[in-house]
Amino acid sequence: MKNYKIKTINNIAPEALDLFTENFAYSPDEENPDALILRSQDLHNYKFTENIRFIGRAGAGVNNIPVEKCSELGIVVSKAPGANANAVKELTAAALLLASRDIVGGIDWVRSLKGEEDIAQKVEKGKKAFTGPELAGKKLGVIGLGATGQLVGEMGLSFGMEVYGYDPFISLSGALNLSNQIHYSEDGKMLFKECDYISLHIPYSEETKNIVSRDLLAQVKPGLHLLNIARGGLVDLEALKEALEDGRVAKYVVDFPEEASLDLPNTINIPHLGASTPESQENSAKMVIEQAMDYLNNGNIKNSVNFPDCDMGQCTSAHRVTLNHRNIPNMIGQITAILAEEGVNIANLLNRHKDGWAYTMIDLDSEIPESLRKKLWAIEGVVRVRLIK
Ligand SMILES: NC(=O)c1ccc[n+]([C@@H]2O[C@H](COP(=O)([O-])OP(=O)(O)OC[C@H]3O[C@@H](n4cnc5c(N)ncnc54)[C@H](O)[C@@H]3O)[C@@H](O)[C@H]2O)c1
Repeated sequence: MKNYKIKTINNIAPEALDLFTENFAYSPDEENPDALILRSQDLHNYKFTENIRFIGRAGAGVNNIPVEKCSELGIVVSKAPGANANAVKELTAAALLLASRDIVGGIDWVRSLKGEEDIAQKVEKGKKAFTGPELAGKKLGVIGLGATGQLVGEMGLSFGMEVYGYDPFISLSGALNLSNQIHYSEDGKMLFKECDYISLHIPYSEETKNIVSRDLLAQVKPGLHLLNIARGGLVDLEALKEALEDGRVAKYVVDFPEEASLDLPNTINIPHLGASTPESQENSAKMVIEQAMDYLNNGNIKNSVNFPDCDMGQCTSAHRVTLNHRNIPNMIGQITAILAEEGVNIANLLNRHKDGWAYTMIDLDSEIPESLRKKLWAIEGVVRVRLIK
């Protein structure tokens, strides 16, 4: 097996790093690495050296990574879906309770009583200022039914809530796993009109930026409790400020504080604690390290955001060639023609595509020279060719 170098960025859980087998060297100082493993470091201005073929983001979102640029450089970007879903669900449970009962205001008030006399009596007299409704029997709308949204929906059910879910892009496995007690809706607006609590569990992108818009906030059920443990930028904060001021929104809980959110009334800013549990950091890092090793050793792709999932198992043939390329016509024809010209026999071939990009894996009955790799790379639209083994 070939040797590979992994550059680790941010603190990667040591229990996960132990998974690396002997043919992997890893450290934060690795020069000319084959892969990067990181958490939330922003790579938008990072200078990618030519050898980098894989980036593993030990987390769920990838907006710290210039994904399209990576695709053009033939770098597979993978993430760890679901690895921190339980941690985020648990923080959302806390957010739901904090949004409903004024626990934070109450704690602050009790702290302000320090040094005074008759605390117990003052507490009994003053506590009514912090009354808040129970969750049982209320309607919870979950926007995004991925790994976290599904768990949040089930958590809502366990609180005795009536749960509604919206996700026009739900995956097949997500749809199959969705609890039949969660009412699936094809109308996201309806959730905002009818629910007492809305929890966002969608990625941030150009499409979802300010998805909770002025228009949507104009239609909410008055007194809505809005939870955003997903990403900053999903809510139009100017419009939200007005909705909080006139009571359309009773409470906003956000895990992504920014200057504007600190100025909002009736808002609880949590310092991005969603995935801050030792378990989730270890799970995420383990998942991307397994993916990095499988990609570098065997060319298999799993949980990538820019290239399709592809798995031909462990590489046991004489030679395995992998090509990252644009999803354009006649790619396979051109690749197989070059191999045929050289008299190389194909034992197995797998081609998958995802959006504008594709990935082809070919097991060969004989080894091929480096010169052939260059010929394959010269095909227009091919951005990376690897000879594995
Ligand atoms: N607070 C934190 O620390 C923290 C930690 C992990 C994840 N997150 C955020 O939570 C999000 C969800 O995490 P996940 O693990 O469930 O991801 P996931 O990929 O499993 O699920 C995301 C779901 O959102 C759906 N979706 C996308 N666009 C949508 C839209 N416009 N309307 C409705 N649904 C839409 C997708 O179809 C998918 O099912 C992540 O993208 C990330 O931004 C936050």
